[in-house]
Amino acid sequence: MILPLDDMIFGIISDVCGREGVDAYVIGGYVRDMLLKRDNPGKDIDIVIIGDGVTTARAVARAVNPRIKVSVFKTFGTAMFRYNDADIEFVGARKESYNRDSRKPDVLPGTLGDDQNRRDFTVNALAISLNKATYGEMLDPFNGLDDLRAKILRTPLDPDTTFSDDPLRMLRAIRFSAQLGFTINGPTFESIKRNADRIKIVSAERISVELNKILLSPLPSKGLALLEEAQLLAIIFPELEKLKGVEEKEGKGHKDNFHHTLKVIENISARTDNLWLRWAALLHDIAKPATKKFIPGTGWSFHGHDFLGAKMVPQIFARLKLPLNEKMKYVQKLVGLHLRPIALVQEEVSDSAIRRLLFEAGEDIDDLMLLCQADITSGNRYKVKKHLENFVLVMEKMKEIEEKDAIRTFQPPVSGEEIIKVFGLKPGPVVGDIKTAIKDAILDGKIANDREEAYRFMLERGKELGLKPV
Ligand code: CTP
Repeated sequence: MILPLDDMIFGIISDVCGREGVDAYVIGGYVRDMLLKRDNPGKDIDIVIIGDGVTTARAVARAVNPRIKVSVFKTFGTAMFRYNDADIEFVGARKESYNRDSRKPDVLPGTLGDDQNRRDFTVNALAISLNKATYGEMLDPFNGLDDLRAKILRTPLDPDTTFSDDPLRMLRAIRFSAQLGFTINGPTFESIKRNADRIKIVSAERISVELNKILLSPLPSKGLALLEEAQLLAIIFPELEKLKGVEEKEGKGHKDNFHHTLKVIENISARTDNLWLRWAALLHDIAKPATKKFIPGTGWSFHGHDFLGAKMVPQIFARLKLPLNEKMKYVQKLVGLHLRPIALVQEEVSDSAIRRLLFEAGEDIDDLMLLCQADITSGNRYKVKKHLENFVLVMEKMKEIEEKDAIRTFQPPVSGEEIIKVFGLKPGPVVGDIKTAIKDAILDGKIANDREEAYRFMLERGKELGLKPV
């Protein structure tokens, strides 16, 4: 099979390698995605050199543009440079043998075949020649092309060897399955189950990269279900594993919160590509196991799981080495507020309840509403329909109030400094008291979100506290 290698860079590599007398091949994800016609702009390009990857990288970079900076990673024997929007990475073909207790391989120079042997899946071991005589020819020792057509993930060697060499590959298999819609072949999946425990030697950072890719894939719920089935979830994400199962007492059961969570992720993923909103969906019920109680005569309660769930978010993010920045705070906020819109749907809804929610959610109100809609997953279609209809009513009312009162971007109409100045105060709790009273009056609809009314209200409140303007 001969493949078209359109980009100029392949011609340049071929010329340079021809001159230097070394063989070169494109390999890995670039080849796989090209064959799948996957729209993956800026996809990195991996080149295997039968020889020294670093020397060849420098020679190719010089031929592209003498000013290009080449980054060398001595420990891995690799070198790369940026070309257009992609990283072009060069590595000398190698044999690797791994130590059971670490990920650091002993590396020896090898042939193309050795290099293909040490790769994770047959569809990632496909190589295309860049050598003059065979330019564009596919080298496929493990029938990776057949697997690609049949959408199958299979390891080139005995899966126990491939996974033992780098246990992260077990997560990669599941990630590719969710990302590409591939099936993991039977013996490969059995081996993942057998070796699941080995994931413990992999760093949290590498695990999180895969988790994020699963969450961003078109089928995150498939990826999560596979993680569970492979017994990896219990190790890398025990809080999620604990959501599994149904308990029954006095003939009353509750829903299986793991399956419910998967459904919510599926729902939200149909509406948004926002990774952090998908994270909020993943974690929205995370505190249900910890708050579960059976109340005789009434049934199951998970009271406070919203509040406790929000508290658990920073611990989970820290353990997974996810960013502890405003993204984490956003997830935490959505988890903490996720029941509030549903409560509005169920109650006779007052304007002030809506204003309070708008105030607390601020700019994230639309995302919160998406999460809540995704959270409606009853098996009863009539119930879901009715709930969603009520939801639309709440959203309309919300829009009305927002247009009138602009609470979403609420800024105190009278500042603390002004309160201090007007009453000749020193900074202290009284200032906060007046500020809160103004905010509450606006949210309760006693006064409009307007400077003049707020100023008048401030004077009244000051009078009640025995203060006089100076
Ligand atoms: N590889 C491997 N084992 C790993 C990681 C990578 O064998 N744990 C090999 C595979 O051949 C893979 C190539 O290195 O195709 C490049 O790795 P990487 O860029 O991480 O993955 P891609 O397959 O390119 O896919 P993606 O960019 O989606 O991660």
